[in-house]
Amino acid sequence: MSGASGLRRPLVAGNWKMHLVRAEAAALAAAVRAGTSAATGGVEVALFPSFPLLPAVAETLAGSTIGCGGQDLHPAARGAFTGDVAAAQLLDVGCRYVLCGHSERRQGHGESDRLVAEKAAAAAGAGLLPVVCVGETGSERDRGETFAVLERQIAPLDPLPGLVLAYEPVWAIGTGKTATPELAEEAHRHLRRSFERRWGSGAESLRILYGGSVTPDNARGLAERPEIDGALVGGASLDPAKFLAIISAFAA
Ligand code: PGA
Repeated sequence: MSGASGLRRPLVAGNWKMHLVRAEAAALAAAVRAGTSAATGGVEVALFPSFPLLPAVAETLAGSTIGCGGQDLHPAARGAFTGDVAAAQLLDVGCRYVLCGHSERRQGHGESDRLVAEKAAAAAGAGLLPVVCVGETGSERDRGETFAVLERQIAPLDPLPGLVLAYEPVWAIGTGKTATPELAEEAHRHLRRSFERRWGSGAESLRILYGGSVTPDNARGLAERPEIDGALVGGASLDPAKFLAIISAFAA
């Protein structure tokens, strides 16, 4: 099992992005629920459907240990923010988690490191577990800037209750090019050391997930690394058999 010395419970999360309608989402959530068994009980499982699907997914998951979360939130508690969603609204439809700063938000919606940190703080303040996504682009990696980019992205983040980090190299998302377990572990170790320097001992319990083309074929190699505390899964999370196999890899 990943998560050094059992300090960090593995978390496997499915990011459904802008896919599915309600009936499909309920069926997928039901299949994940049915497939998670005692064998995968040590792994925390979370699903991230788009906003209109959340009530149907939360209803399907009710009474199970599987949680769900929003793919984004606004840092304000309420107000005149057309098109945005507040933490209290996510909690109200049964969310436990929320993604903050996915690269598709950073790139497609110009979200800054500061805004992402504000979203994470608002989420944690309201009682949601923020899953903050960080990661370099392919050209940043080619220029040797990976660690500098990660430092810049986490700089505005304060120690927050329940904070989860997801290292998602942008060049690996939806491309079929997974980071090798070595590359992922190197980035995770760097992130944890940075938090250690800034927070002191609390960084040992910070969960750092890997995301970017995770599949049943590469999940076990990633899960074997003590620094990799779970996965944020996009494409493969839409196929229950694949997603369940990834969960099993982190339970092994
Ligand atoms: P992918 O997406 O697994 O399809 O690469 C991961 C993500 O964007 O969270």
